[in-house]
Amino acid sequence: MLLLGSLQRQAVRCESLGSPMYAELLRRLVDNYELGGVSADVLAGYENPPPGSVIGLRLLGAVHGLVLAGEVPELAVFYPSVDGVWDPVLGWEAFEQVLQSRSAEVRALLTQPPQTNEVRRSAALYGGLLQLVQEVQLPVRLFEIGASAGLNLRADHFRYVADGESYGAADSPVVIEDAWSGRKLEPTELRIAERVGADIAPVNPLSAEGARTLTSYVWADMVERLERLRAALEVAARVPADVRREDAVSFVRGLELSPGHVTVLWHSIMWQYLTDEDRAAVDAQVAELGEWADETAPLARLRFEPGVEAPSEFLVELEVWPGGGRRVLGRIADHGQDLVWSFPSASGND
Ligand SMILES: C[S@@+](CC[C@H](N)C(=O)[O-])C[C@H]1O[C@@H](n2cnc3c(N)ncnc32)[C@H](O)[C@@H]1O
Repeated sequence: MLLLGSLQRQAVRCESLGSPMYAELLRRLVDNYELGGVSADVLAGYENPPPGSVIGLRLLGAVHGLVLAGEVPELAVFYPSVDGVWDPVLGWEAFEQVLQSRSAEVRALLTQPPQTNEVRRSAALYGGLLQLVQEVQLPVRLFEIGASAGLNLRADHFRYVADGESYGAADSPVVIEDAWSGRKLEPTELRIAERVGADIAPVNPLSAEGARTLTSYVWADMVERLERLRAALEVAARVPADVRREDAVSFVRGLELSPGHVTVLWHSIMWQYLTDEDRAAVDAQVAELGEWADETAPLARLRFEPGVEAPSEFLVELEVWPGGGRRVLGRIADHGQDLVWSFPSASGND
């Protein structure tokens, strides 16, 4: 059975990424499952989940959603996201009770992949754009596939602190400390003329339900991430972005260039969800659009995904038309931490 291995690996990941609470809950879910407890009932049918389906995070997100909705106060007292204090023994007991009493609601939510719109990832986008506009001094039209709630389409409205310098919007409620290292970026004014995203399951960050969905998928003891998300929701309320319900292939097919602007296609941690066929279709479409690009209407693709030629690590990569070839700008971890700029480098290889 693949399920228990997946929960155990997720526990190790949560521990190493700073969520001891979720690590503990996942380990206890495994123990409970092996003893034939409620976790086996709730996870029935998911014995062999497909790779990448992160079933443990779906379950934890579903329960966190109930906590945030104020429906399980007996568990909420252990959730730091709502000012509770985590206790591994009493917290697990309350969690187990909720699995028992709310199993139908939790199971209903297991069908949905987590909706993690991680604001820290915007450091890669913002830093990548700064490097782009040094070469291509034009206003940016920003397009994102797998945009989720579109929070990162507002990247220029966040503040980034790196090497004692401050970048972005000085008065932003979103402050990304230690945004990057490796090389110093030139603070440059970014003009974003358009912000459009696509997602197969977009979340409306302006609705209470959307905000709760996004919050439910942040690990409940990662207070800094929660604060950053709440601040980004404030920014989203005053900076509009158009996020459509559309799949990546169809969205990219509709992209056009615009004289006097650099058209940027950006994506972060969504490539893994596309089929091989869809990935090839997106790549082909972007390459075709690139053939039409010229100095007056350039095109750029900025990706924060497993490296094209180094899939075992997350890279920030930039490709610009006309010109260019793909360049690795930096290395990064999947929630946007530990971004180290290493630009410039040889095409596609660094
Ligand atoms: C892990 S989230 C990342 C969201 C955002 N890019 C970020 O970095 O915070 C992946 C997103 O990709 C979306 N997605 C998955 N398959 C997609 C597809 N075929 N077309 C468009 N979006 C897709 C999901 O709905 C989800 O919002």
